[in-house]
Amino acid sequence: MAGRVAVVTGGSRGIGAAIAVALKNAGYKVAVNYGGNDEAAKAFTQQTGIPAYKWDVSDFAACEAGIKKVAADLGAPVEILVNNAGITRDGTMHRMTFEQWNAVIQTNLGSCFNMCRAVIEPMRARKFGRIVNIGSINGQAGQYGQVNYAAAKSGIHGFTKALAQEGAALGITVNAIAPGYIDTDMVRAVPPNVLEKIVAKIPVGRLGKAEEIARGVVFLVADDAGFVTGSTLSINGGQHMY
Ligand code: CAA
Repeated sequence: MAGRVAVVTGGSRGIGAAIAVALKNAGYKVAVNYGGNDEAAKAFTQQTGIPAYKWDVSDFAACEAGIKKVAADLGAPVEILVNNAGITRDGTMHRMTFEQWNAVIQTNLGSCFNMCRAVIEPMRARKFGRIVNIGSINGQAGQYGQVNYAAAKSGIHGFTKALAQEGAALGITVNAIAPGYIDTDMVRAVPPNVLEKIVAKIPVGRLGKAEEIARGVVFLVADDAGFVTGSTLSINGGQHMY
């Protein structure tokens, strides 16, 4: 329903920014969260008119405070949550540090708990909610050099199915999208020789576009998508059919 309040984490750049813009265009009142890049967030708000709020999604108390502030500023409780924020700290296991492991687990997976915990009680009270968690092809299939990221993203897929069961009778749907390799800063950071080999294995023959993920989110958060819950929508150019 137009006018519902939506929050997109990691929403000032990349896939999150495309999701925020698509939700705004669909008539929702959107706010984005971002973690660090003030300049990008400022530019995003200037271009789109979508307010950006800075907090660390791996910090439980910060998520609770952030959600409260967005709801107060936008004048209604958060009914749509897109957990998109994520980082990579790639490296093979024998070189990976505990810090690389922990940062990815806390930011990519811990954030889903922190953010969902902050919105779940009002959603239960209102008997309506839409939660979309952004997983990854690499959580489904694994990826060389990504035990941390694959574990976190795989965790997101399990988290989604468990919370979907809890929300189902209360009008709260919880779904995941598993993007493949999308043309964003994160993917551009993959060494070019490695990326070339990955793209060669994508049947569609190219990287995806952030807008192609946003399209899936708009579908999943719609009021008339209430029978779609606990599902994973793979948007990966045919790279992994699962
Ligand atoms: N499968 C098998 N072997 C592989 C491999 C793979 N996928 N990738 C690399 N190797 C091999 C290399 O061929 C090389 O072997 P040789 O020494 O025999 O030549 C060996 O592993 C070491 O490779 P590198 O020189 O690349 O090693 P490195 O230590 O410099 O870097 C790495 C390792 C950091 C993992 C690097 O390969 C890398 O960044 N890979 C990309 C990982 C990736 O795909 N990340 C995705 C980021 S985007 C994302 O995560 C978004 C999303 O959701 C899809």
